[in-house]
Formats: sequence, structure tokens, C-alpha cells
Amino acid sequence: MIQAPKGTFDILPDDAARRERIEAQAARILGAAGYRRIETPAFEATDLFERGVGEATDIVQKEMYTFDDGGGRSLTLRPEGTAPVCRAYIEHGMHKLPQPVKLWYVSSFFRAEAPQLGRYRQFWQVGAEAIGSASPETDAELIVLLAELLEAVGVKGLSLSLTSLGTPETRAEYREELRAYLHAREQQLSPDVRSRIDLNPMRAFDASDEATRDVMRRAPKLLDRLAPDDAEHFAEVRLLLDDAGIRYELDPTLVRGLDYYTRTLFEFSSDALGAQSGVGGGGRYDRLIEQLDGPPTPASGWAAGVERMMLAADELPVQGDLVDLFIALPTAAGVRPAFRLAREARRAGLQAQLELAGRSLRGQLRHADRIGARYVAIVGEDGTSLKNMESGEQRETSAQDVIPMILRGSRLV
Ligand code: HAM
Repeated sequence: MIQAPKGTFDILPDDAARRERIEAQAARILGAAGYRRIETPAFEATDLFERGVGEATDIVQKEMYTFDDGGGRSLTLRPEGTAPVCRAYIEHGMHKLPQPVKLWYVSSFFRAEAPQLGRYRQFWQVGAEAIGSASPETDAELIVLLAELLEAVGVKGLSLSLTSLGTPETRAEYREELRAYLHAREQQLSPDVRSRIDLNPMRAFDASDEATRDVMRRAPKLLDRLAPDDAEHFAEVRLLLDDAGIRYELDPTLVRGLDYYTRTLFEFSSDALGAQSGVGGGGRYDRLIEQLDGPPTPASGWAAGVERMMLAADELPVQGDLVDLFIALPTAAGVRPAFRLAREARRAGLQAQLELAGRSLRGQLRHADRIGARYVAIVGEDGTSLKNMESGEQRETSAQDVIPMILRGSRLV
């Protein structure tokens, strides 16, 4: 038996209905704030992610599905949406539009990660990007919008971590300071952390070993090293979040697996999830557009995982589709008028289904009952009868009268 590839899943109709609800909430909440939908291709030039997401990140190093398209071009299934949206912004000259350009998407993404609950190789994100504004209001508004989405979807046990990364220059200086701090305490660090001091000293903050954690508690923090304008920007973001009643925890060690972030950085987690507790996150990426050969353009955004939102929310019952009319065929003679009736009923706005399985009339009536049809039209050789499935009443009628009778909600008197 051929199965779906490891780390992927089928979206069956009940799941699709739940996803549609999330999508509808996102469209409502983001639409009301002036975000407009964008969709970019499922694959892009590999270069876009190498330069956009960052050569040194796990995503680029280990998790990309990269292939040769047969014509010597290296393409990659998109592992995230920010770099593609920035590519589209540049390619379509969107800097000429009124700024910021506010875009949202719900799309699937691909990462070759080890699958587990909440972590898949093809997954979906709702994302929002505001390109062309440096203001702290943009960041605060984006965070408020994500909080509203998560609440509307019913995500439980939420907490928000927040920090600011400042500029890449501040960060480079800070990294040097942290390296020196760690080198001076090498003996107390776990071998794993020790071996990565030069490569990625920030990783030391994620260590689980107690001696290392003790060293890290007293380590210098990036938040205390921000340049005055970055610190002011961050203070304004916090003020607006406080005003909006959004609770957050300052986490100066927050790291996210993407290299493009500057200034504001945030992540929502849910304690209703297991190890993969991040539901959605993002931040400001003021250098990315320029890095991708666009004009210097500040920007900010987030993405939230659809599967993780669903896992962290209470499952609401899914309502089956309402079937207004099932058209039964006792013999093949009624096929043509039945086929016509189905089309006309749908045009009139009814959900109408035609018998497609060659069942006996009894079998067809049982089927109509199973799918919850309100009415059954039995289209036979010598006429049509209409049965109200709720009351059980049935009466002879003409094919033309079926639709008006249903629209009137006829009790078939
Ligand atoms: P990210 O944190 O890598 O950010 O992904 C955002 C969300 O996607 C995560 O919080 C998680 O819910 C979901 N997610 C990530 N990887 C997986 C996976 N393997 N399986 C299931 N869900 C997953 C970004 O992608 C950035 N582009 C966000 C952003 C937008 N920053 C600025 N603008």
C-alpha cells in the first residue's frame, strides 16, 4: 500500500472544514486591519532562502527540499513565507505603492525536520507581513492581531515572549562580549556548549545542563546593550502592548531559527502543546529587502502554524454540509430530467445531489437519510414525487415544481 510520505498528512473533509474556520478568522481579523491576501509559488530559487533566511541557519543547512529543475537551476520548496513575500515586493515594485504594504497568506511550507506531534515536513502557516514601516506601532499592531487570531481560534494556555535584538552591529559586538564571557568560564560549560562558543554562543542560553544554566543566568544580556534608538523603539512597542492589555514576558534569550530579524522579536507558545510549543511568532526584519537587492525598506511580520493552532484549541464539532435535495432514480429512464433538476436546483442556491451509485430505490432512500437530505425527489418514468424526509410525507408533483416547493419549505400539504 502506498502511503503519504513521512511527516505529511492528508486533509480530510472534516479537517478541511476546521481549517476553513481558521482561514475565515484570519481573513476577518487581518482584512479589518487592511492586510490583503498574497500567494507566492510553492518553490523559489534556492538562492532566495540562502540569502534571505541565512546560510548558517538550521533551515538552510539541514531542512530544505532542494532540487535541480532539470535545466541546471537549483530550486527549493519554500521553508517559510517572509523571503518569498519580500521577493514579490521587490519584483513587483511595491515600494511605489502607499506604505506600508500589508500582506497576509495562508500557505503550505516544507521543512525536512524529524516529524513529531506538531512538527511536520509539509505544514501550513497563516502569515502577515507589513513592509515599508519602521514604526513601533506596526510591531505592536501585528502582535495584537496575532493575539486576536489565536484567541478567536480558541488556542488555550497562551503565553507571549518578547525581546528586541537591536541591529546586526549591536548583536555582533554583543556576541563578542558573550564569547569572551563564555571562554573565561569554559570549565563550567557542557562539552556541547563549549564546542560551539565560537560558532553560535547564543545557543548556550538553550542549554539544559544545570552548571551551564547557572553560568548563563549571570551572562550579559543583549537587551541591556541596545543602542538608544533601538531601546526607545522597544519601549514604545511595550507601552502600546501594555495599553492593549497584552501580557508578555521579557525573554532576552529568545532565539528564533531565522537570521533576518532586527529589533522586535516575539513568540506565542501554548502549554496545550508538547515539545513543539511555539504556535506563532515573528518580528521585525529591517534589512531583509535590501539584502535581497531591493531598496532599503523596514518591515515586520509573523506566522502562525495552522496545525499547531488546531492542536492547541478545543475541537469544535464540525457541522456536516446541509443537503437540501437528493435526487433519486428508480430506473435509468429518469436520468436526463434528474440531471437537469440537479443543475437547476444548484443554480437556485440549493445543495443538491444526484444518485451516482446505481443503488436500488430503497438503497437510495437510505443513503439520502444518511447524508441528512431534507428532501428527496424521485424522478421516474411516469413522473416525479417529492418526499419530505423530516415529516415522511410524499406526494406526486411535476419536475418544475420541485425547486419552488423546497424554496417555500413546503410541508407538502
Ligand atoms: P517560524 O517560527 O519558523 O517563523 O514558523 C512560524 C510557525 O510555523 C511556528 O510558530 C509553528 O507554529 C509553525 N511551524 C514551523 N515549523 C513547523 C513544522 N515543521 N511543522 C508544523 N508547524 C511548523 C517563520 O516561518 C517566519 N517566516 C515568521 C515571520 C513572518 N517572521 C516575520 N514574518
